[in-house]
Amino acid sequence: MNKKISIAIDGPAAAGKSTVAKIVAEKLSYIYIDTGAMYRALTYKALNENLDLENEHALINMLNDTKIELLPGENGQLIYLDSNNVSEVIRTADVTNSVSIVAKHKLVREEMTARQKAFAENGGVVMDGRDIGTHVLPYAEVKVFLLASVSERAIRRHNENIQKGFSSDLEKLKEEIARRDKLDSEREIAPLKKAEDAVEIDTTSLTIDQVVDRIMGLALERIG
Ligand code: CDP
Ligand code: CDP
Repeated sequence: MNKKISIAIDGPAAAGKSTVAKIVAEKLSYIYIDTGAMYRALTYKALNENLDLENEHALINMLNDTKIELLPGENGQLIYLDSNNVSEVIRTADVTNSVSIVAKHKLVREEMTARQKAFAENGGVVMDGRDIGTHVLPYAEVKVFLLASVSERAIRRHNENIQKGFSSDLEKLKEEIARRDKLDSEREIAPLKKAEDAVEIDTTSLTIDQVVDRIMGLALERIG
């Protein structure tokens, strides 16, 4: 039987992480773990309960009492928060603009990292996020860091909004993405950073298939 490896995919917002991670996981029959969705689910709950997002202890108390499940659905992964399907509502602008504040706290990150490591303990996993190659799965056999220019990433989100029939302001998206990049890269604990042994792929002018092919090439080399 082929060896089951772990694949870590990191990078900034809208670099294409979840899109390619899902495809790679499907091709290899591995599980896909969207770690950003876990931080988003906690942020959604904290906003609903009017928690002060700077209050680390209030957040960790809430998280310790919170069940976050990632389950396979017909059209991709479904996110359940305390047994409720929150897959759509965790993607709203309110959550997007607050999640980096929740994600900066040490105790929150420690608990999320422990849960993410547990998901990956048997290998056969493709996990995407910001600190997977550096902190969550430092021993992952394949580590990829996806990049793309801020303009390209804003255009990608803009196109997604238009496709979904939502209103969208390209300049605002650019600002929001740049702000989140800054918060995620400059935080003290487990910042967004390429792992030394990660392969960097600039996806600005690559198609999804081209990115998937690169990652599949790296994975198949390690699987043997
Ligand atoms: O999909 P998008 O790139 O917009 O973001 P995401 O992957 O859903 O992640 C949302 C936010 O969660 C990020 O901006 C980070 O603040 C945080 N995050 C993190 O700190 N560490 C991770 N491993 C994953 C996400
Ligand atoms: O997970 P992350 O936030 O890094 O990005 P995503 O949600 O997977 O991708 C953002 C958008 O960029 C999606 O609509 C993709 O179809 C598109 N895209 C891509 O992911 N990769 C490319 N090489 C080109 C476009």
